[in-house]
Amino acid sequence: MEKEGAVLIGETGLQRKSDVIVIGAGAAGMMAAIRAGNRGRSVVVLDHARAPGEKIRISGGGRCNFTNIHAGPKNFLSANPHFCKSALARFTPADFIAMVDRHGIAWHEKTLGQLFCDDSAKDVIRMLLTEMRSAGAQLHLGTEITGVEKVEAGFRVSTGEDAFEASALIVATGGKSIPKMGATGFAYRLAEQFGLPVLETRPGLVPLTLDPGLLEAIAPLAGISAPAEIRHGKTAFREALLFTHRGVSGPAILQISSYWREGDEIVVSIEPDIDIGAHLKTAKQLNGRQSPQTALGDILPKRLAQFLVEREKIAGNMADLPDKALLRLAAAAQNFTVKPSGSEGYRTAEVTLGGIDTAALDSRSMEAKAVPGLYFIGECVDVTGWLGGYNFQWAWASGFAAGEYA
Ligand code: FDA
Repeated sequence: MEKEGAVLIGETGLQRKSDVIVIGAGAAGMMAAIRAGNRGRSVVVLDHARAPGEKIRISGGGRCNFTNIHAGPKNFLSANPHFCKSALARFTPADFIAMVDRHGIAWHEKTLGQLFCDDSAKDVIRMLLTEMRSAGAQLHLGTEITGVEKVEAGFRVSTGEDAFEASALIVATGGKSIPKMGATGFAYRLAEQFGLPVLETRPGLVPLTLDPGLLEAIAPLAGISAPAEIRHGKTAFREALLFTHRGVSGPAILQISSYWREGDEIVVSIEPDIDIGAHLKTAKQLNGRQSPQTALGDILPKRLAQFLVEREKIAGNMADLPDKALLRLAAAAQNFTVKPSGSEGYRTAEVTLGGIDTAALDSRSMEAKAVPGLYFIGECVDVTGWLGGYNFQWAWASGFAAGEYA
């Protein structure tokens, strides 16, 4: 069997029979192809896009937050929180860092264990392509999948004029987020075709929108960012909050959006490490002639301070204000309940929550229990990470797991 296969771009038909077919040349699919190829399996990767790893290219603001050194099961949402444990334990952030280091890619920790390329996300794509090439995997881009069927030898994947066959099929076509970049929901349809359950999908890591009334009120704040704690029930994240023209965004909001459901409230606390009530009382004692905007503006962005003072209809100098009014002002900043009207949806969501029910998959191999030889990996599976490199770590780990067994 042809094992010299260089990475093919835009060609099809060279190797119609292989041990493994991977559909989707994203993070998970490329890792699965590398692992399977390194085990001596012949691998063909098919993708309808013109370039591999497009989401890697745009990730992390072009620098790819490729893993998180703290990644563990607690950082993932799933109907079965235990499912991700096995794969995460067998391909860890250290394993991916070792690969990055082998390829001489410089990286740094930005914050909270998040690792980014010093230079460009394209370095990660180049690394994966180099690894695929040395593992003997073939890559066919610009290839539309027109049908998948079970045949005696395994699976036949039709691509218009061509057909590919393999004993194992790994589906790595991602979720529904960013349809403009070719996200299709293909994996969910294929799972249903083979009788596998798919849990309701919804956008995750997504900005939240606000009612027109509140949006109009906060319009002057668009572009302002501040440290915040955002709470939803028992879940809370402390990161930056960003006011936008559509509502609220920033890491703290993206994180909580994965837990938020339509109709739920969230509680916003700005500058959660500062006791704003105590600060205002001290400011009143030290300088009673200053305005509350000025006192609050010492710790919050000026426009936000002004907004809160006007919203609470607080007038006069600090000396004129009873402590009750100061505490009301503090609560407006630190215990503010908001009911978002919706989210920006798949158009801007970084990930898709829900997806292929993990109950139907073997957690060691990602193989469908009811369909031997069929594997689902990456974002299409009901395992979704927090913001901060966790989703790529899941893609690498689940891809490695399937590549180990396919
Ligand atoms: P992915 O979507 O990467 O790949 C799927 C592949 O399948 C694509 O190549 C696609 O073309 C192909 N495909 C789809 N449908 C097909 C079909 N019908 N036929 C053939 N091929 C098909 N995560 C993180 O950890 N750190 C980060 O910095 C970021 N940053 C980030 C920024 C932005 C803007 C987004 C949208 C997302 C992120 N993410 C992230 C999330 C991360 O990109 C995501 O979790 C992984 O890319 C998922 O990897 P997969 O391989 O599962 O799918």
